[in-house]
Amino acid sequence: MPKSSQYDLLYRQLSALLEGETDPVAKMANMAAVLHEAFGFWWTGFYRVAGEELILGPFQGPVACMHIPFGKGVCGTAWARGESVVVPDVEQFPGHIACSAASRSEIVVPVPGPDGKVVAVLDIDSDRLATFDEEDRQWLEKLVRLL
Ligand code: SME
Repeated sequence: MPKSSQYDLLYRQLSALLEGETDPVAKMANMAAVLHEAFGFWWTGFYRVAGEELILGPFQGPVACMHIPFGKGVCGTAWARGESVVVPDVEQFPGHIACSAASRSEIVVPVPGPDGKVVAVLDIDSDRLATFDEEDRQWLEKLVRLL
């Protein structure tokens, strides 16, 4: 199935699944599970904004770092910029935080709160190079607006 059809299906599934749910952690948990299972990513999860740092939230995959300072790593950079960051090769990203040596490429998408400020980030890691492109960015930005 082409990636766009897969995302379109997931968008409709998650809209129905999350409808009426108000707890952000419950919604993040199921969104991480659905994405991780559908695409077979290496690591799929959320970090929540807590003061001056990001703290590990619901995820699927191997254990990960629990605290990331503002502006650090790909996650902290996406938070600081308030925009998605696509990294085709993590070794080429200065300051990348290697939670797992198997991670080769990643995408981080900010989750906007009701007032537009970033409240969390969605971080997806792949064990292959250049897994994520503009299409992933657009779909994932649309998906996180369901939270
Ligand atoms: N690689 C991320 C850290 C999080 S883990 O990969 C799950 C970063 O550089 O922000």
